[in-house]
Amino acid sequence: MKLTFIVGAFTNLLALASAASFSNPLKATNGSDPHMTYYNGYYYLMTTTWTNLQITRAKTLEGLKTGETRVVWTDSDPSRCCNVWAPELHKIGNSWYIYYTAGNSQNLDGQRMHVLKGGGNPFSRYSYAGQLTQDWGIDGSILAVQNKSYFVWSCFSGTLQSLCIAPMNSPTTIGARKVLSEPLLDWERAQGQPPVNEGPTALYHNGKIFLVYSASFCWTPSYQLGVLTYNGGDPTLASSWTKTGPFFSSANGNYGPGHNCFINSPDGTEVWNIYHATWIQTGNCDGNRYTAAKKVSWNADGSPNFGSPDPLGIVTAGPSGEKA
Ligand SMILES: *[C@@H]1O[C@H](CO)[C@@H](O)[C@H](O)[C@H]1NC(C)=O
Ligand SMILES: *[C@@H]1O[C@H](CO)[C@@H](O)[C@H](O)[C@H]1NC(C)=O
Repeated sequence: MKLTFIVGAFTNLLALASAASFSNPLKATNGSDPHMTYYNGYYYLMTTTWTNLQITRAKTLEGLKTGETRVVWTDSDPSRCCNVWAPELHKIGNSWYIYYTAGNSQNLDGQRMHVLKGGGNPFSRYSYAGQLTQDWGIDGSILAVQNKSYFVWSCFSGTLQSLCIAPMNSPTTIGARKVLSEPLLDWERAQGQPPVNEGPTALYHNGKIFLVYSASFCWTPSYQLGVLTYNGGDPTLASSWTKTGPFFSSANGNYGPGHNCFINSPDGTEVWNIYHATWIQTGNCDGNRYTAAKKVSWNADGSPNFGSPDPLGIVTAGPSGEKA
């Protein structure tokens, strides 16, 4: 009797532990530009498909591999039909919005930021709600500083693909833009390739605010992360931020890790980095990128420590508080 009881208890513990474990990649192909959010017991994942907007949901990271997927948007308007990139789900007030990049079928010069408005949960119907940038713009996301929302995205500053910021006047309109970061450092310019700053994403921890972004050209293995740390003052001024990097560079068979986002664990105690990388050693910027996850740790000064991307296939504990 006693032995049975103990074995039973162990089995239950193992069941709990395995419910929360996962291995990378979470999405083996077309896992580019991942954006994830956790809401009402589900993770919602969007990645770049080029043709439409899809959301996959599951109760655990591991479950996303076979999660329920819905196509929530396709568009025949020639100005935004095609080259659909980097969709992000954000809840503002009681509604969900999808911010995404799209353009025409001929080339990439028409890439602009657009927004869809949905309903009270991420799997609701969406309708077109507006174009946010008149000029070339990709990878839009939202940064909140002292209860005020700012739109951050990748823009051109002269010939340099940079980061821009503008106050949000509403969920579907933005004010005048300012340039926040230009790719001027060595590690933001892969040799012989265009310098790039893109994929900005906000990270909040213990009262500190960071804007993490991806630097250097995505078709190279030197794609990696940079960090802007907010020092106070007007967040639309480059002088209010300090740039450090590079971080989270190619390692352990993962090449060009970047274009990430962050989620809190379901119990709110941990922050996880959701990123893409490729197995192709020369770098890759198409569907041959996978989505992966790694827990963020913190340095003594409160700055994030992303470590290195781990080898694929290792089974690790998932985010704290996951319920299968
Ligand atoms: C942000 O909003 C909350 C709730 O409305 C309020 O309590 C807080 O004081 C605001 N903070 C700032 C910095 O404005
Ligand atoms: C990614 O999706 C596109 C469009 O459905 C498809 O043509 C392509 O083969 C996919 N890429 C990979 C690597 O599976």
